[in-house]
Amino acid sequence: MGTILLSHSVSANDLTVGFSQIGSESGWRAAETSVAKSEAEKRGITLKIADAQQKQENQIKAIRSFIAQGVDAIFLAPVVQTGWEPVLQEAKEAEIPVFLLDRNITVKDDSLFMTGVAADSVHEGAVAADWLIKTQAGQPCNVVELQGTVGASVALERKQGFLDTVATVPTIKIIRTQSGDFTRSKGKEVMESFIKAENNGKNICAVYAHNDDMAIGAIQAIKEAGLKPGKDIKIISIDGVPDIFKAMIAGEANASVELTPNMAGPALDALLAFKKDGTLPPKHIKTESVLFEPATAQAQLDLKKDMGY
Ligand code: AHR
Repeated sequence: MGTILLSHSVSANDLTVGFSQIGSESGWRAAETSVAKSEAEKRGITLKIADAQQKQENQIKAIRSFIAQGVDAIFLAPVVQTGWEPVLQEAKEAEIPVFLLDRNITVKDDSLFMTGVAADSVHEGAVAADWLIKTQAGQPCNVVELQGTVGASVALERKQGFLDTVATVPTIKIIRTQSGDFTRSKGKEVMESFIKAENNGKNICAVYAHNDDMAIGAIQAIKEAGLKPGKDIKIISIDGVPDIFKAMIAGEANASVELTPNMAGPALDALLAFKKDGTLPPKHIKTESVLFEPATAQAQLDLKKDMGY
C-alpha cells in the first residue's frame, strides 16, 4: 500500500473519496448514504458517490472510474462477498487505499483493503435468536426466515448466527427460509408465499427477517392474511430504522437489532489518521449490535429524528 501522506501543503480539504454504494434497497441503506455525506462534509472531505443499483459489475466499473480519477481513497459497500480480487488489485497498484463499509469480502490477500467498518453479523443473528429463545421460554415455535441478498456476507452471517443459536433449543425450528433481497416488496411477496404454504399462516410462530424493510413487508402480508403481526406472529429483524420503531409502537413488531448507519465516520477518521502520519487502522472496526424492544421504541424514534434520519 502506498504512503501518500498529508504534508503541510495537503489538508483534509484536498482529499477526495470515491464511495461505491450498493443502491437504495432499504431505509438503512438510504440512511447510510446520507450519514456518509454529512460525515464527509463535517471533515471537509469531498465524497463522490456512485450508486451501483444492486449490481457488482456496476461497483467494479465505479471502482475503475475512481482509480482513473485518482481519488485519495475508495469506500466500498460490497453487494456480494466474492469476486473482488482483480479490481482491488488494480486499486492497490494505483496505491489507493480501499475501505469496506458494512459488509465483508472474501479475498486471499487481505492487503487488498485497508480496513472494514462493520458489525459482527454472526453475532447479530445470535442476538435475534437469543431474544426469541428468551421470549418463547420453552414454548415451541416455527420460524420463517427472510434472508438478505443472495451472496451478501451479511445474509450468510446473519443466517448462520441465528441458526447456530436456535439449534441449541429443540423447540424452535426454522420451517421455511428464502431471500427477500433486503427489500420491502420482496419481503412481502415471500411472506405471502410462506403464509399460503403454512395453513394460512397458522403454523407460523415468528418471522426472522435479515432486515427491517423485509420485516415491514412481512407485517403487511400478515395483516392482509387477517392475522395480527407482533401477536399471532412475532416479528424480529435487524437494522433499527425509524419504520420498525413505528411498527413496534403500533404493536406490530417485537424486536430489532440495531445496525448503526454511521459506517463512513470511522472509515474517514481512519483515512485521516493514515494520511497524517501513516497510522494503520485495525483490519476490522466493529460497530455495536444492540437489541431494541417496544418499551424504548418511542425514545429510539425521537433519537433518530434528532440525528436526522
Ligand atoms: O449491509 C447492511 C444491510 O444492507 C442492512 O441490514 C440492510 O438493510 C441493507 O440493505
